[in-house]
Amino acid sequence: MEEVRIGFIGCGGNANGHMNTLSSLEGTRIVSVCDLQEERAESAAERHQAVAYTDHQKMLERNDLDAIYLSLPVFAHGQPELAVIERGLPFLVEKPVAINLEIAQQVAEAVEQADLITCAGYQLRYLGSTQLTKRLLADQTVSMAMGKYWCGTGRGDPNAWIRRMDKSGGQLVEQATHTVDMMRYLMGEVAEVFSLQANRVLRDIDCPDSYTVTLQFESGAIGTLTTYWAFDNGDWSNANVIDILYQDQLINWNPSRLEVKEAGEVVSKTEPGPPIDQVFVDAVRRQDPSQILSPYADAVKSLAISLAANQSAKSGQIVPVG
Ligand SMILES: NC(=O)c1ccc[n+]([C@@H]2O[C@H](COP(=O)([O-])OP(=O)(O)OC[C@H]3O[C@@H](n4cnc5c(N)ncnc54)[C@H](O)[C@@H]3O)[C@@H](O)[C@H]2O)c1
Repeated sequence: MEEVRIGFIGCGGNANGHMNTLSSLEGTRIVSVCDLQEERAESAAERHQAVAYTDHQKMLERNDLDAIYLSLPVFAHGQPELAVIERGLPFLVEKPVAINLEIAQQVAEAVEQADLITCAGYQLRYLGSTQLTKRLLADQTVSMAMGKYWCGTGRGDPNAWIRRMDKSGGQLVEQATHTVDMMRYLMGEVAEVFSLQANRVLRDIDCPDSYTVTLQFESGAIGTLTTYWAFDNGDWSNANVIDILYQDQLINWNPSRLEVKEAGEVVSKTEPGPPIDQVFVDAVRRQDPSQILSPYADAVKSLAISLAANQSAKSGQIVPVG
């Protein structure tokens, strides 16, 4: 396959970012784009010389598609993925992969049966700061990790799907899933969680604005994650930050760098990493998923942690994950 021809289901803000990256990659072409909102599909089609659709089933009838991107509101996942799998196409799907585990597991089973290449949009795994941290911790006994995702996203339009619990699952499911996934990726699987949640500031939405989650990792390590949705809207410096304690040492990770002590001095390090779109397109072109760090089935495990935390907050109990 010389050229990888891509179709999009969902043409919102996130999809546009992927489209821009893809259009800069050699041997990649966006051939069709679909959105329920016709003007969004038409606008993306015009920018990328693609064909616009408002019905993904219709788009999937095209015979020139090599791969699909699904960038949808959380509640809209399920049927579109099953249609893509039925059509036998590899896909990249944005995180979180579904609003509940029933849908996610149904899609995961269909993916496995069809033996398709899949990639979830956990792009932080590919960053240099992440890969350096992963290598540094490979032979270490890690004791504890403390993550946080504090931002002001909760302060936007209260009627938007992202700020409705039944449509997005709230901050922990929709957004801080990145931090949950990074904690899993760097620390290993999570066995059980306990969560407290509150809404102290954003009284016009039904999502909590504050979460604390205590995590028991299968390794024996422990962790905490705090998330906050009513923070200063312009300040992202406390979003996706993790402190990891091992032996007598500390790693402070964020997407742009890690800080670690070397010869008594705290140094700041990173290295280049490939964009997730490059990794996915190369995997499709070579029919080789080995460089994909978050296939669909793996992403379901990150979703399960956030959902278990929401359940724990409701029941007041420690909840096993999965
Ligand atoms: N990886 C990241 O860092 C990152 C960043 C931002 C958003 N996201 C994720 O991307 C996804 C989309 O977020 P967004 O901000 O672009 O949302 P958005 O609301 O801007 O866009 C979603 C689009 O999907 C369309 N849509 C809904 N159902 C559809 C269907 N059945 N067929 C076709 N189109 C349909 C909507 O009309 C809308 O235009 C979310 O899962 C979000 O979590 C990921």
